Formats: sequence, structure tokens, C-alpha cells
Amino acid sequence: MELADDEKAMLDGAEGPAVAAAMDLLVRYGEALGAERLCETRNVAGTMTQPSPVKARLVREGGWNKAFSVINLDSDDEFELPHMRVPTCQLQQGFGEDSVGIAPYPRSMVELQSGAEAFYGERGVNILATCTPYQVGNLPARDEHCAWMESSAVVYCNSVLGARTNCEGTASTGAASLTGKIPYWGNHLPENRYGTHLVEAAVPVAGFLDWGMFGYFVGEVVQENRPVVTGELRQPDQTDLKHFGASTASSGGVEIYHIPGITPEAPTLDAAFGGRAAPEAIGYGSRERRAVYETLNNQGESTGVDFVLLGCPHASLDQIARAARALDGRKLNAGTELWLMTPRALRSVADRNGYTEIIRRAGGRVLTDSCPAMSKSAPEGTRVFATDSAKQAHYLPAILGIEAWFGTLEECVDAAVTGTWRGELR
Ligand code: F3S
Repeated sequence: MELADDEKAMLDGAEGPAVAAAMDLLVRYGEALGAERLCETRNVAGTMTQPSPVKARLVREGGWNKAFSVINLDSDDEFELPHMRVPTCQLQQGFGEDSVGIAPYPRSMVELQSGAEAFYGERGVNILATCTPYQVGNLPARDEHCAWMESSAVVYCNSVLGARTNCEGTASTGAASLTGKIPYWGNHLPENRYGTHLVEAAVPVAGFLDWGMFGYFVGEVVQENRPVVTGELRQPDQTDLKHFGASTASSGGVEIYHIPGITPEAPTLDAAFGGRAAPEAIGYGSRERRAVYETLNNQGESTGVDFVLLGCPHASLDQIARAARALDGRKLNAGTELWLMTPRALRSVADRNGYTEIIRRAGGRVLTDSCPAMSKSAPEGTRVFATDSAKQAHYLPAILGIEAWFGTLEECVDAAVTGTWRGELR
């Protein structure tokens, strides 16, 4: 791989041993990928504060510098962590203080995470603590090279914002944060961003539920390719696109999609395919829509619902407001819990608006930082859960061995209030 002068200097230790180790990691990683060079990034979204038993052991043995060296720089040596060279944020992590006494999540992990926040915060990691950094201030510009992790964030970054990132890992984002560099390959190259598949909706795709189901279909049929979607698409909002992308990255491994006339790199169908002829369209009609609905609902047998989960990817302010409206003046069923996950920064707005209090009065919780799938934690004794998220319906049954129902936010709230799943496809 060809290195620029500043990169060679970093590799040779001009900026200290931690930066040299980070550059060494990027060179090895880039060469394994076949990248010809690195590119500059000033936007890293990684995971440094996420607690784990391995991290707890490393911190016990050698402190936070040791934990960073091993986990985030993939090194056996121990380096003193300097300040982040470029803006870096923490994605979702474990449950935080606000979940103590609510989520059955080890107190030791909450404490470890608090220590991590102090250590990394001092060194310039912005503790956004969400899978949706784009909702709370991390909005890269179009064509900006980024180094992001988290599949739902990556697909949003590429497709909706038109910025450029591959699906990075813990070590590559750690190295990028110290060097401001990332291998120039994959989604960073313009020619790798054009559509490969065309999927055409013959039924209206409108609203959060349908954008999620359509995304689930698209991911399943294109897998890791680059879909262009057209047809009976109603104007999506940011929340719809958040759900659509997360779904494509759950049933498949989509990292970039295009919607002609909507997403920034696809002003036209022609542009979405880079001037090449569009392939034959894959159809999405009422039969396919029903099949997706049934797939997402074939993990539920008992209609008794113990737990309702909203906010995957983390809820927008609009979603919190909608949940509050649906719960206003009602009370949750005695045996059912409701958690709504959102970034902490949005919860502070929800607090000011009174949404959190309305949800709390009904018996629900607005929680932050994490989610049941990420922290492998749902209310004690949960056997059946309901969600409005195709991603959470896809993952949580396998992670926790529980049954799942998938439907609209209103159907989920109804299940929380009655304790019974009564959703149906309309
Ligand atoms: Fe976010 Fe958890 Fe869903 S990390 S995308 S809320 S699975």
C-alpha cells in the first residue's frame, strides 16, 4: 500500500507509540483488503466504552490503556492513549445508570462503563451512546469519508447522507480515531456505490411499518449488494429511512441503497446505476408483503405479551411523541413492561416536552444508551415480546430465546395496555 509522508511518519513513531501501532494496524488491514492507499477521515463512530467481561479483566490487569491497546488497537503491547486525533463518537453501548433497577443487567458492567466514559471522554470521545449518531449531532457532509461501525448507522450514512463508510470494526475505528485515516476501498470508491439490483414496489410503501417490511424484503433478495428501489413509494421521512435501512442490513448485509429522487446520489434511476442499464426489476407485491409480515411474525405462538420494545434503531423525537400520545391516560397491563430506547440527548428533549412523564405515568420506561439485543437483557421472565422494529424482531428471539410479534407502534402499545397481541396486517 502506498503511504503518504504523514502516514509514513506516523508509522515510524513521530507521533508516539500508540499512533504508530494504529498506523501499523491500518496498513496491515488495508493490505489484507487490497486497498492501494488510505484516505483522510474526520468522522469516526466506534465503540470504546462498551463494557464486557474481557474488558473488565484487562482493566483489572493493566488499566484503561491496556484495555484500549488490546481491544481497540489489537496489540499485545500497552500504550498510553493520547487525545483522539479526529472527532470520534461512541455508538450504542451497554445499559447505563438509568436502567439500574429496571433492566436485569449487571451492576458491575454499568460501573465499568461509567469508568470508560470518564477515561474516553477526557480523551475526546463524544459519548453519544446511540446507534443513531446522525440523530444527535453527528451528521457527516455528502462525500465525506467516515469510519463508522453498526450496520444500521452505516447504511444510513452511505444512503441517506451520501457520506462514505464501510462497515468498520472495533480495531479499525480505534486506529482511525488516532490517525484520521482509514483504508480507501469498498464504499469509499465512487464506482462501488452504484446500484446492482432493482427492486420495484407494486404495493404502496408508506409509513414506518411498511418501510421496515419493504427493507426486510429488499435485504433478503439482494443480500450484500446495492439495491435501487422504485415503484409505489410514498415520501419517506427520516424515521422511515432509518427503519428501511436497518431492515435491509438485518435480513441481508446492505450497506448502501438508492431511492431515485430521494437519496442524494440518485437524482434519477440512470444516476443510481451510474449510467449503466438497469437490471430486470425484482417485484414486491401484496404476496411478498404478506410473506415478510408472516416471517417476522412466525416467532410468536402465545398472544400473551410480557414485554414491548420500541425504538430500534433508537427512537426519533417524533416516535417518542407518538408513543406518548398513544399511552396518554392509559395504564400498562400488570404483567407487561414497555421500554422505549432513544439517544440520551433526545430523551432530555422528551423530558422537557413532558413525553417521558406521560410514558412513565402509563408504566413505561424511556431508556438510553443500549437496547435489549445489544445488552442481551429484557425484563426478568420475558417469554413473549412485541416490537415495531423488523430488526429487533429479527434478532431478539435468537439472542434471548423468546417469542416475538411485529406490528405498528399503536398495536404494540395496545399489547402493552391489554397484555394481548391483536395485531394484523392491514
Ligand atoms: Fe440500535 Fe439495538 Fe436496534 S443497537 S439498531 S436499537 S438492535
